[in-house]
Amino acid sequence: MTRYLITSALPYINGVKHLGNLVGSLLPADVFARFCRARGFETLALCATDEHGSTTELAAAEAGRDVRAFCDEQYALQKAAGDGFGLSWDHFGRSSNAPNIALTQHFARLLWRNGHLDVRTTKQVYSNADKRFLSDRYVVGTCPHCGYERARGDQCENCTRVLDPVDLINPRSAISGSPDIEIRDSTHLFLKQSTFVPQLRAWIDSHERDWPVLVTSIARKWLDEGLQDRGITRDVEWGVPVPDDIADGQLKGKVFYVWFDAPIEYIGCAQEWAEANGKGDAWRDWWIGPKSKDVVYCEFMGKDNIPFHTVGFPVTVMGARPQEDWKLVDRLKGFNYINFDGGKFSTSSKRGVFMDAALEILPADYWRYYLMANAPESSDSNFTWEHFAGQVNKDLADVLGNFVNRVTKFCGARFEGKVPSEGEYGDEEKALIEELDKRVGEYTQLFEAMEFRKALAELRAIFVTGNEYLTRAAPWTHVKTDRARAGAAVRMGLNLVHLFAHLAWPVIPTSARRIHQAIQDAPEVIPWPDEAMGDFLDDLEYGMAIGVPEVLFAKITDEQIADWRARFGGGG
Ligand code: 2FM
Ligand code: ZN
Repeated sequence: MTRYLITSALPYINGVKHLGNLVGSLLPADVFARFCRARGFETLALCATDEHGSTTELAAAEAGRDVRAFCDEQYALQKAAGDGFGLSWDHFGRSSNAPNIALTQHFARLLWRNGHLDVRTTKQVYSNADKRFLSDRYVVGTCPHCGYERARGDQCENCTRVLDPVDLINPRSAISGSPDIEIRDSTHLFLKQSTFVPQLRAWIDSHERDWPVLVTSIARKWLDEGLQDRGITRDVEWGVPVPDDIADGQLKGKVFYVWFDAPIEYIGCAQEWAEANGKGDAWRDWWIGPKSKDVVYCEFMGKDNIPFHTVGFPVTVMGARPQEDWKLVDRLKGFNYINFDGGKFSTSSKRGVFMDAALEILPADYWRYYLMANAPESSDSNFTWEHFAGQVNKDLADVLGNFVNRVTKFCGARFEGKVPSEGEYGDEEKALIEELDKRVGEYTQLFEAMEFRKALAELRAIFVTGNEYLTRAAPWTHVKTDRARAGAAVRMGLNLVHLFAHLAWPVIPTSARRIHQAIQDAPEVIPWPDEAMGDFLDDLEYGMAIGVPEVLFAKITDEQIADWRARFGGGG
């Protein structure tokens, strides 16, 4: 039976993530993991903090903290924010933990032994003002390709080209702003990526049909631009040390580049999960060996991460062969960006809404629903307060919340709070069942295809279908004259409430459980309705007691929008 291994791009350790990071990897990975669990598949959902590198060193220095203490604190904050959002990781690990350090060194040794690494002397930017080598992203200047003036030395965020800091025009230190920089020689390990191009191309081609165009086009663009060998070591302190037995100790005192060790933490995290849960070597069955053949490995990430997952990390995995056959990603879901009122969400300039602040103002499910309904799949999407409030108020409060409330209340008032046993389903119900068979099938397929935006549109259509049925069936009108007819409609209404809880659970797990609890106790994982709708919608036991949930979704008011706009910005 298929097993699902699911990872989301590992968030950088510095700072709680914004809603753009959330919808670009963490949240869809969680929704998909829940969908897989609901369908009864064995699922391992992993995430971790990406901790190494100069960015972390500098953020710690700015906060006046020792790097490790800084990471400990930030890890706790990110874990709390993830838990608050209901991100149901099986493990939330850390790239600085022991398994990743050992695995990173292990992969490097294998790559070295297999002849995929070279020692080369490079020209490295040294800042006299800052008294340190500057890593690529801490050199800024004008992009030689598009002229963008604040391009970073690793990648131009304007044209997405990968850069080398020495390519930049008018380079300066991003730390001090000082142009007093010089080029010094430094020895580094290089991963000979260029020799992997034919193998990478064949592998990317083999995913032509099952990866989104966004993913294959970015991956190919990288190859087409001419894949350069990549330096995988750095002159910084906070990282995985290069072991002395590689290149006769020529790299002493250096560490691996953060983009080399971070993806290996996908594997390290599985080991952390096994260690934390007394599962011994079980982590290996997800990654290597005969048992891993049943595993479908799914990765979720924003578009800026695609090159590292379609080229960088795969080269590490391919280079460890033939001795070790670690899994390559099977399904890779990439996302565009979500903008904040027309501009970028930005961690460095604190622009937008961040996960911790979002939870201070509204429960997680409001955000989860809205973000998934507007997942930036085919293009960038745009967050505005008005759009957010409009969609939450309509879909969650008016359509879903109101439906649950109407049915359960009416059942309480006119049918003693019990599933009515009166009446039979007639033509109206048969038509509804037929329509829902189609819609639920479509919804399932869209989730399977990871087409989240369309899936959520289908979910909304299912809620609307239920509402329209109830309006037509109008039990409040018939109850006085035809109790059997009203009873059948209420019974169907309650079964619909039950169905909605099952279908909505991957997206809005807390509310779905509350809705389910109005009907009966809710399991931790609410299973997917696999049976035909004719069976599912006649499943509730006649005479069973029904509750009325407290208000499920409070409407967002104009005053709240005004407050939040003042607090977070965002005009629209
Ligand atoms: O872009 C980012 O947020 C990176 N920290 C993602 C790393 S993904 C993986 F390779 F670790
Ligand atoms: Zn550019």
